[in-house]
Amino acid sequence: MRTPLIAGNWKMNGLGDDARHLATAVAQGVAGLNGVEIAVCPPFVHLDTVRDRVGDALSVGAQNCADAAEGARTGEVSAAMLADLGVRYVILGHSERRQYYGEDDALIAARYAQALEQGLRPILCVGETLEEREADRTESVVASQLNGVIDRLDTSIGLGDGVIAYEPVWAIGTGRTATAQQAQAMHAFIRQTLAARDAGLAERMRLLYGGSMKAANAGELLAEPDIDGGLIGGASLKADDFVAICATAA
Ligand code: G3P
Repeated sequence: MRTPLIAGNWKMNGLGDDARHLATAVAQGVAGLNGVEIAVCPPFVHLDTVRDRVGDALSVGAQNCADAAEGARTGEVSAAMLADLGVRYVILGHSERRQYYGEDDALIAARYAQALEQGLRPILCVGETLEEREADRTESVVASQLNGVIDRLDTSIGLGDGVIAYEPVWAIGTGRTATAQQAQAMHAFIRQTLAARDAGLAERMRLLYGGSMKAANAGELLAEPDIDGGLIGGASLKADDFVAICATAA
């Protein structure tokens, strides 16, 4: 039985007061919810504040981590620094990192390895563009992104206790959510791809859906057998909306 995970990706939004208010409202809103694990992933500069505000009510995640342990990596934040702050999850390979900053599978795999080394739980994002879907390349693209990271990891560790997030790029921030059937089909494909390597891992690994998940559609998506939670963007910036999604998963 996989415990559902709902993670809020705040992306590059909010100043100090916004982060404090949102963290406090979410922590209060999810108090008493059982059977679901909840995380919020603020920008780096708010991690310490948010960590203090949410206490043990939920986990805190980062939106990236460095591909090296320490040293001459200007602008980067190491996995050790995140672990030192009490961060538990780290989003890696988000389509926005791939699109705007040219992150490729090799760099994402190096970041993933650093996260595991420091005891963080990576949330590895995969997903196709609308053009790739319309060209019937969805499975080949997602398999390539997944294997492009797994093949570069230490085989004795593999994906460790990481999480996969399937985020069709055409559904991110667009309000055009994948149907529950479309999402389930890709989650089942991802689980089969993992099972071809390690059946036990495939069964254990949580597969999150991301891409315009809202309170209104969360129930239908989360009812699917291979959807183990959500990676929430826009709706995570409104405490009531995010708490409603968490309550649906509980
Ligand atoms: O990482 C989650 C994010 O990409 C989804 O964004 O706004 O479509 O929920 P949104």
